[in-house]
Amino acid sequence: MPNAAVELRDVCKSFAKDRHQELLVVDHVNLEIQEGEFFSLLGPSGCGKTTSLRMMAGFEHPSSGEIYIHGEPMGDRPPFHRPVNTVFQNYALFPHLTVSQNVAFGLEMENLPKAEIQQRVAEVLEQVQLEGLAKRYPKQMSGGQQQRVALARALVKQPAVLLFDEPLGALDLKLRKEMQLELKRMQQRLGLTFIYVTHDQEEALTMSDRIAVMSKGQVLQVGTPMEIYEEPVNRFVADFIGETNFLTGRVVSQQGGSVVVLIDEEVPITVDCRQEMPIGKIVTLVVRPEKAEIWSSNHPPQSTIPGVVEEVVYIGTDTRYLVRLTPQSIVSVRRQNLHRRDLTLHHLGEKVQVLINSDSICILEDDRAAQDNYSRRIAEMAVS
Ligand SMILES: Nc1ncnc2c1ncn2[C@@H]1O[C@H](COP(=O)(O)OP(=O)(O)OP(=O)(O)O)[C@@H](O)[C@H]1O
Ligand SMILES: [Mg+2]
Repeated sequence: MPNAAVELRDVCKSFAKDRHQELLVVDHVNLEIQEGEFFSLLGPSGCGKTTSLRMMAGFEHPSSGEIYIHGEPMGDRPPFHRPVNTVFQNYALFPHLTVSQNVAFGLEMENLPKAEIQQRVAEVLEQVQLEGLAKRYPKQMSGGQQQRVALARALVKQPAVLLFDEPLGALDLKLRKEMQLELKRMQQRLGLTFIYVTHDQEEALTMSDRIAVMSKGQVLQVGTPMEIYEEPVNRFVADFIGETNFLTGRVVSQQGGSVVVLIDEEVPITVDCRQEMPIGKIVTLVVRPEKAEIWSSNHPPQSTIPGVVEEVVYIGTDTRYLVRLTPQSIVSVRRQNLHRRDLTLHHLGEKVQVLINSDSICILEDDRAAQDNYSRRIAEMAVS
């Protein structure tokens, strides 16, 4: 097994909150990022993404644990002695230098021969498709172009690993989407390792080979975009990535490869499930809105669940229906607007049937708060 490009082994970081208290912002993080991988750290504001990245770059040092780059422990080695380079959110370009001077700056600091600097700057400007703009100043360029200058400045140092901290945060949505694909293509073409911090789940899904989802300083799940979306390991991950329905109920039977979960003691839902599930266990089902279907009550297919439409939201590509299944549970169902006639298919207050395919439901076994809440409700029902 070759060495990982970057490895975090049991890394913790705490900051002094005041004279008496420490705040643990990175909490026993273990990560192995492979050579040539596009790896994202994803999580809400304040979860420790930037701090983790800054420790890889050498701007901060772990309170405990160790960071390895290509198998070598980094200890307290300073940033300029690490084979990494960072692209920050605000680009930090020098306003009084032209594009090529901005890109050449780091190489000039290393006292490289002038001819070599010129050649490397020209090469890298070609890679980011800015050849024609070499003599411009940053303020004469668009956000996306400035972003590419920042990238060129990092690339020209030929680092093995590039670190990005929300590099597209300042761009408008359309340009941001273009730059996402452009960065991804460049990473693939050059075969570099990119470690990318973002709090935007769609951005992480679009760009990454693998994603680490973080919350409160901890890594909750590491996986491919598909694994993270289709098989979230807990409620936080399921909720943070995309839109999700949570349905809580009790396991009432298991047979062959499936279990039946009785939602709110009322509605049975069949779920594909290979592992042993004790009868009586309270579980939470994760159902993505695009994996549920809505049908008219007069022509339902088999094994649907009756419900009433409580909200209809037209969102262009899709229409989102909120359907109440029980007094406690409501599901959001997305229906793609393939035909004009789909636009007015179901209306508010209509009695409909919902189909949730048994193979596209994910079971959370340890959703503690939901389990406690559910047990309390059953107890109350028994009393009344
Ligand atoms: N130098 C510091 N001193 C004290 N606390 C800090 C310092 N740097 C970060 N923190 C705290 O550590 C926590 C994690 O911060 P960090 O910047 O890593 O979060 P983040 O995930 O990058 O968030 P965002 O998405 O908002 O950029 C926050 O609570 C922050 O206030
Ligand atoms: Mg940050």
